[in-house]
Amino acid sequence: MVKISLVSALLSITASTLPAYADDLVERGAYLVKHVAACGNCHSPLDATGEIAGKELSGRFVISTPGFDAYAPNITPAGIGGWSDEELSIAIREGIRPDGTLIGPPMPIELYRRLSDSDLAAIIAYLRTVPAVESDLPRSRYRIELPSSYGPPVSFVADVAPGETVEYGAYLAGPVAHCIECHTPMTEAGHFDYASRLGAGGQILEGPWGIAVTANLTSAPDALARWSDEEVINMIRTGHRPDGSAMAGPMGYSFYRGMAEQDVRAIVAYLRTLPARVP
Ligand code: HEC
Ligand code: HEC
Repeated sequence: MVKISLVSALLSITASTLPAYADDLVERGAYLVKHVAACGNCHSPLDATGEIAGKELSGRFVISTPGFDAYAPNITPAGIGGWSDEELSIAIREGIRPDGTLIGPPMPIELYRRLSDSDLAAIIAYLRTVPAVESDLPRSRYRIELPSSYGPPVSFVADVAPGETVEYGAYLAGPVAHCIECHTPMTEAGHFDYASRLGAGGQILEGPWGIAVTANLTSAPDALARWSDEEVINMIRTGHRPDGSAMAGPMGYSFYRGMAEQDVRAIVAYLRTLPARVP
């Protein structure tokens, strides 16, 4: 039954509905890349106000830690134009390049493994449309040992229904925007402590912004509970605290500015459910 209805649904797609579908896919991908996933917060040359116009996604030096010097490569068609959709899917969601090498941190592969099939397809469809920009960057250097893989192949990830729900907020704050990665402290062994300190903050991030400590987003009394939903939303989208002072660090405020009302509200609804924890 299912097969028959799928076939008839496919047959009923006419030449005129296909381009509309493709437009929707690119539009969804553009929105995710530019305003939620903020791929450009690592992959685009930035100045104090955000992405440098005309150089979006052409790659940049991201961060130096004791464990590595990371460069986010050019992901315009000048960089990955030769990769098939399948190869790009495996690179983004499983961290394996077409030549079999592993993509290292801080590319958030552990979280991207749970990107839904349709959002991944949308992101790839959008990447095909960005202008090709040439760039010349060194390769990342890893002094830590990379894992042999990030896990078994990912075959199918279903969509989480969009809405102002905790479930959709968890999907956006995790697999799409990786908020919880910066905002969760590491264990002594160097893994994100999602199991017992999810969202507790306390990571120290050093870079051109100076030294920033990621905020505690759990319901601990002196953490997010101090702020109303409107205040939290404003901090995420403007990078300013309720007292007007500017927040610092690598959080992608200039990207999140364009996040849809429903999506930022879903994220805040999800954050409100995080059990109180301290870093
Ligand atoms: C937190 C920073 C960060 C974010 C956010 C990020 N990336 Fe990456 N990405 C990297 C780094 C660093 C590398 C290279 C790692 C290495 O050298 O092994 C990389 C590698 C890649 C590669 C492999 C490119 C190549 O030539 O090897 C692709 C494709 C990619 N990223 C796509 C994306 C997309 C699409 C997004 C958004 C959905 C994204 N990245 C978000 C940091 C990031
Ligand atoms: C690249 C790391 C990084 C990512 C990704 C990130 N943040 Fe942050 N965030 C920070 C840092 C650092 C601060 C502290 C800034 C300061 O106080 O100057 C912060 C502060 C905050 C604050 C202010 C809380 C308070 O009480 O002061 C909120 C809210 C927040 N982040 C939410 C989010 C959400 C939601 C996302 C995902 C959409 C996100 N962050 C993604 C690094 C990050």
